[in-house]
Amino acid sequence: GRVAVLLGGRSAERKVSLSSGAGVLAALQEQGVRAEAFDPAERSLDALADFDRVFIALHGRYGEDGAIQGALELMGIPYTGSGVLASALGMDKWRSKLVWSAAGLPVPECVLLDAASDFAAIEARFGLPIFVKPACEGSSIGVVMVREAGGLAAAYAEAAKAAASSGGLVIAERAVLGGEYTVAILGDEALPIVKIEPATPFYDYEAKYLRDDTRYLCPCGLPPEREAELRAQALVAFRALGGRGWGRVDFLLDVAASASGDEAPKAYFLEANTSPGMTGHSLVPVAARAAGISYNELVLRVLALATT
Ligand code: DAL
Ligand code: MG
Repeated sequence: GRVAVLLGGRSAERKVSLSSGAGVLAALQEQGVRAEAFDPAERSLDALADFDRVFIALHGRYGEDGAIQGALELMGIPYTGSGVLASALGMDKWRSKLVWSAAGLPVPECVLLDAASDFAAIEARFGLPIFVKPACEGSSIGVVMVREAGGLAAAYAEAAKAAASSGGLVIAERAVLGGEYTVAILGDEALPIVKIEPATPFYDYEAKYLRDDTRYLCPCGLPPEREAELRAQALVAFRALGGRGWGRVDFLLDVAASASGDEAPKAYFLEANTSPGMTGHSLVPVAARAAGISYNELVLRVLALATT
């Protein structure tokens, strides 16, 4: 049957999605799948009725947040990745943390910000640095690291501007200083953990897609038992949101806090990505490779898990 690869779309991550989608499309075509690119920003969704399955390579609003998933449910066309609820929750860094803390999973302390927030009190409570983020964006778009006292209000204003195209919600997060890691989920399996070492102060858009000096370590260097534990915990986190098919769960290890005691560094779950990047700089392909799964095979396996 024919497969539509959804790419582009209307979110702030459009460019990233065009790159993910180009990779996915080439992989499918190289392997003899009758696949075509379909940009929902340029074509009416009605045209999807001609396809048997959909590979969602969209990121961000309308593509990763349950909107397109709901449309495909109504049309009865099997699609890759999570359903409506998990997509909507995964897109929202505030509400996914609410679910995770209710499920007993550790998350960094986090508050919603608005223009009337007591910025000084939040700075005093969290200490510096603080991360300010649009709650429903991806690829670190609009994320600001507050490093100086009194900087939270301006950071909020900046993040709020970036958040306007994704519903306007902005969060402040206590910084967890240590390593940033990610776990790719494929079907029922959590793949080997990738450690991210940006050359920049944090893993921002530039470090993600534009620079070539970000290091991706897989194996990630954690003791094997600890890695196994964290892979299992990431799968629990993904399932707590209702995730399905494939995805990616990002977490931080609190190395700084553990250095003072004898406990192993604690993991804090940041977010789940239900339509993870598949660009030449993206993380799931790195984890897959470490598990012996080529990019092309990964794409076929994600497609094979497509469902309604
Ligand atoms: N939001 C980007 C595409 C990612 O998580 O890979
Ligand atoms: Mg994300």
